Amino acid sequence: MSENKTIQALFDSFSSDKLQLPNRTVMAPMTRGFSPNGVPGEDVAAYYRRRAEHNVGLIITEGTGIDHPASVSGDSIPLFHGEASLEGWKRVVDQVHEAGGKIAPQLWHVGMTRNKGDLPNEEALPVGPSGFTLDGEPVTDPLTESEVEQLVEAYAKAASEAKRLGFDAIELHGAHGYLIDQFFWEQTNKRTDRYGGDLVKRTQFAVDIIKACRLEVGPEFPIIFRFSQWKMSDYKAQLAKTPEELEQFLQPLVEAGVDIFHCSTRRFWEPAFEGSDLNLAGWTKKLTGKPVISVGSVGLSGEFTSFTNADTTSLDGLVEKLEEEEFDLIAIGRSLLQDPAWVEKVENGQADDLLPFDKSSLTKLY
Ligand SMILES: Cc1cc2nc3c(=O)[nH]c(=O)nc-3n(C[C@H](O)[C@H](O)[C@H](O)COP(=O)(O)O)c2cc1C
Repeated sequence: MSENKTIQALFDSFSSDKLQLPNRTVMAPMTRGFSPNGVPGEDVAAYYRRRAEHNVGLIITEGTGIDHPASVSGDSIPLFHGEASLEGWKRVVDQVHEAGGKIAPQLWHVGMTRNKGDLPNEEALPVGPSGFTLDGEPVTDPLTESEVEQLVEAYAKAASEAKRLGFDAIELHGAHGYLIDQFFWEQTNKRTDRYGGDLVKRTQFAVDIIKACRLEVGPEFPIIFRFSQWKMSDYKAQLAKTPEELEQFLQPLVEAGVDIFHCSTRRFWEPAFEGSDLNLAGWTKKLTGKPVISVGSVGLSGEFTSFTNADTTSLDGLVEKLEEEEFDLIAIGRSLLQDPAWVEKVENGQADDLLPFDKSSLTKLY
């Protein structure tokens, strides 16, 4: 960080209709795989608590599986149903609140990225709009309409549990090529019923989920919606090729009841479309008027999908975009994964104490 650049914009409070935060920092959702049998234990609660103790404005949890047998791949991914898992999450919420933080669970279904035979339910087949993997390989039958409706209900049930447990918001994971995004993307959604068709029609599954969640949580509870252009299988994929298409895509989600959009990019400084410097979050804010969270390689020189080590970089560009109000909040992933005190160090001007990202930190809960 250069000496003469103030970082104040990162530490201004944030106030929207339904959510108030002490600063602009958000912990990005990061799957850690430290929840044996889908139950987040004391160590996971302490991991999130540490971020709250060190001034992270809003914590978004790792993706956690809705109540469906094929929602996750792996038996150490936390679930968001069943007594033991929900008790685990209650511990997490209580720990974060005791430390003065705020927290939202990221509600997740992996859809067709699940391999046949994956734990925790080896017999459960992967499900998706048309039964194709992200690479276009046909694996299972398309979901029936009544199966789609059951999935919508599972999201709504998770939203209701989140509110009951005392979470401050929910985040719906509609990004990166997982289930909700598989409905958005023309390559994975070939349906001809009400859940398929043009870009707007492909938002129907998300719209039904958002509305069903809203019915459960009521008008005052914040619903955050995460989406991305890029997919785990294709970093160059685009749901919306122009600002006009982005507007068509976002409008139904706004009308359904999204409060805050979390616009996932791998590098926050990259323009979303030619002819403007605005990034995906900037465009989303401009087109919807809603508060937005941006994300992608904050403080680091290499993007996360390479999962290699990365050097620290200046925060000047980030601060400039916050000052210009291009976006409201900034999510921080790997920097916070390995250093619970990252936000506090930045706040205190301890730039020299920020560490480069070391991929070995993925193996431990710091
Ligand atoms: C280990 C790891 C796990 C991740 N898991 C999730 C996840 O469960 N849900 C999600 O939406 N994004 C996930 N991401 C993406 C992050 O939320 C974030 O968008 C990405 O790391 C870019 O931010 P960064 O460059 O600050 O790390 C994950 C990233 C990492 C590094």
